[in-house]
Amino acid sequence: RIVILDFGSQYTQLIARRIRELHVFCEIHPYTHAPNLTLSADIRGVVLSGSPCSVRDADAPNPDLSHLLSHVPVLGVCYGAQLLAQQGGGEVLPATIREYGRARLSHINQHHPLLHGLTPGSQVWMSHGDTIKTLPEGFLAIAGTPDVQVAAYEIEGQATYGIQFHPEVTHSTEGKQLIKNFVVDICGCTQSWTPEHFVDSAVTALQNTIGPDDQVILGLSGGVDSSVAALLLHRAIGPRLHGIFVDNGLLRQDEFASVLKAYEGLGLNVTGVEAGAEFYSALAGLTDPEQKRKAIGRTFIEVFDREAQKVEGARWLAQGTIYPDVIESVSVHGSSVTIKSHHNVGGLPEKMNLKIVEPLRMLFKDEVREVGATLGLPGEILNRHPFPGPGLGIRILGDITPEKVDLLQRADGVFINLLKEHGLYDKVWQAGVMLLPVQSVGVMGDERTYERVVALRAVTSVDGMTADWAHLPYEFLAEVSNKIINQVRGINRVVYDISSKPPATIEWE
Ligand code: XMP
Repeated sequence: RIVILDFGSQYTQLIARRIRELHVFCEIHPYTHAPNLTLSADIRGVVLSGSPCSVRDADAPNPDLSHLLSHVPVLGVCYGAQLLAQQGGGEVLPATIREYGRARLSHINQHHPLLHGLTPGSQVWMSHGDTIKTLPEGFLAIAGTPDVQVAAYEIEGQATYGIQFHPEVTHSTEGKQLIKNFVVDICGCTQSWTPEHFVDSAVTALQNTIGPDDQVILGLSGGVDSSVAALLLHRAIGPRLHGIFVDNGLLRQDEFASVLKAYEGLGLNVTGVEAGAEFYSALAGLTDPEQKRKAIGRTFIEVFDREAQKVEGARWLAQGTIYPDVIESVSVHGSSVTIKSHHNVGGLPEKMNLKIVEPLRMLFKDEVREVGATLGLPGEILNRHPFPGPGLGIRILGDITPEKVDLLQRADGVFINLLKEHGLYDKVWQAGVMLLPVQSVGVMGDERTYERVVALRAVTSVDGMTADWAHLPYEFLAEVSNKIINQVRGINRVVYDISSKPPATIEWE
């Protein structure tokens, strides 16, 4: 495997994803927690990430890297490259010419193993305020751009390299070739990290970890992560996996029944718990979004706990945690490391003395989908849009009543079904309808109406952190609007949300 030492760059996860796409396993570690290479013979190479810091700042990360260099091949990217150059006695200074964005490699040593297959003129992406002015003795420039003399270097006689551009971003058009040269040719990693390989090794690991009589509990939501976790566990331990799927009364139209049916079709041992009434009574009269979220969360834990305690011999609680939830994020200001905790089931593990098992904790979201496809998860679940835990509860602005849920489920059903019919569902990242606490005047026939307003929300995004409103065709929006107003009694006006995130959020509450 490859280890990426993170210095806090926004691109660190992209480096990991590019390496994984080459079917090579890699892990991200904060620079403060580098693994001990002498004890980890399976580490074939190290990548040093970029950073928002400048190596010239007094409090910038500056760990001693010499022990790495003598052990395995090392590739410094941007900050990583500048740090190695500075530690070797070179000079890193503020760049006089802007070194952000697109640049072209004007000279390349094409025989160099790191640059093999790259073409002169290759576009690379720069993003740095500093530049390497002079290289230390024993360092050799191997590529440059018209503005950046040292775009890439090597340390003579050892497999250590630095590059000032970012090969991990797609704007560096041959960046992937460079990463492949490093991890496959130079480090000698085999390209065997495939979904099939993952399934085999995860199943074996689960069988070795979970005792032969142990029962495992897993909360299912109909989402991709929990469903893939269920399939993996099912393959490992069969019916000793007890899935619990709670209907909180805030799911989409027909979702509870259809997802339960899909799970049963997959042979999973799942209990569906219809608990809508309990959630509605916990929510009665609440209008504040945070209070609503808390009431939903609290009720979920009560219902789930009650159900879980019926499972005799339960020893484990499984969770669909994925890699981005686990990566310890480097906070460069103050150089501390924060570790996210990811328990969304309250105090159940302590109360029932359960151990936690997280079979997807090393996977990125796209890898979870690939594993799901390998395990036969139907497209209906595999390609499902993200859906918030509190469900329609945060899409009904103001207080929640069963009547409002029914209204929203029907309007949302129209929107989602039409997106699917028009082949637009997979083109947007997330879509849904918001029921607004507003009534407006309309006419229907000869009568004036005074009914509710809904807002359609559809966004494009990669990870939900930033998003743009989806530019859906006018004709399509017109069809959705007509159908909702004609079919859902109680709604007489439909508007379309054209706000991006930031500054707006995807949900309205
Ligand atoms: P926002 O509205 O913050 O949403 O732009 C980003 C993503 O997070 C989802 N979301 C939630 N998911 N519990 C969840 O499990 C919540 O309370 C919650 N609020 C927002 C939202 O659907 C979107 O995918």
